Amino acid sequence: MKKVFISTTTFGEDDPSILKELAKAKISTTMNPHARRLNEAEITDILVKGQYDGLLAGLEPLTENVLAKAKTLKVISRVGVGMDNVDQVAAKKLGIKVFNTPGVLTDAVAELTLGFILAALRKIALLDRKMHVGQWEKKMGALLKGKTVGIVGFGNIGMRVAQLALAFGANIIFTDVRKIKKAKSKQVSVARLIKSANIISLHCSGKDCVIGEKEIQAMKEGVIIINTARGSLIDEKALFKGVSSGKVACAGLDVFLEEPYKGELSKLDNVILTPHIGSYAREARVIMEKMAVDNLIKSFLK
Ligand code: GLV
Repeated sequence: MKKVFISTTTFGEDDPSILKELAKAKISTTMNPHARRLNEAEITDILVKGQYDGLLAGLEPLTENVLAKAKTLKVISRVGVGMDNVDQVAAKKLGIKVFNTPGVLTDAVAELTLGFILAALRKIALLDRKMHVGQWEKKMGALLKGKTVGIVGFGNIGMRVAQLALAFGANIIFTDVRKIKKAKSKQVSVARLIKSANIISLHCSGKDCVIGEKEIQAMKEGVIIINTARGSLIDEKALFKGVSSGKVACAGLDVFLEEPYKGELSKLDNVILTPHIGSYAREARVIMEKMAVDNLIKSFLK
């Protein structure tokens, strides 16, 4: 019998048969007791005390420090695509196999991004909040049609956002660390994108900040900034200043430097916040969990 810890907080919620599949493969499972993202100390403690063979992993920090202490751990199977929380070099050195689930959450994240863009343009979230407290107040919005959408990171998700926005009649420019041949839209430098886009949407991986104070200063007046990638890509203090001053008309954020997020951006009317739900479309989530479990079982069988 293999022992597996499941750190994602909603595992099996939409399709509990996935837990049966694990049991059938003679895998005993333990769920995250905290129902939120674990910190480094918590995941270390759990992996060491529980003597787990495998981890169905969320976004908790799986640093070299954690992995070196988790002596029994053989497999990390990420329920998700981003790998920035896993020290893959350390995992390799320690003989821990690592998997993720690329591709399956492309539509889910891209559609959420479009939701943010439309909500920002038409002030849907803001007006909804007002109506819930009895205020009937009409505010003018703007069309997506004709706007320039700047996409930072033109991988699967960035490209899908481009397709969706094109269908609304937007113009697309994008940046990517690779030179993308055959793209229908125009690849530009980060500096050019920052200067020329009406709407900037982040879809790159990596830990480096892309939007700080200097970048916000260089943006168009009334720019909209959307982040459904990683919190580390935006300097939250600079964004707070940018939105407060009106330079940034609206920000839509699904990801934060620290999650759960409790920061001051939630005090601003023109910021739309969601609790890291990019992959939380039932169809995507169910496939993602199945793929993560398949990766785990296959790796145990090898
Ligand atoms: C979610 O953020 C993921 O990387 O899967």
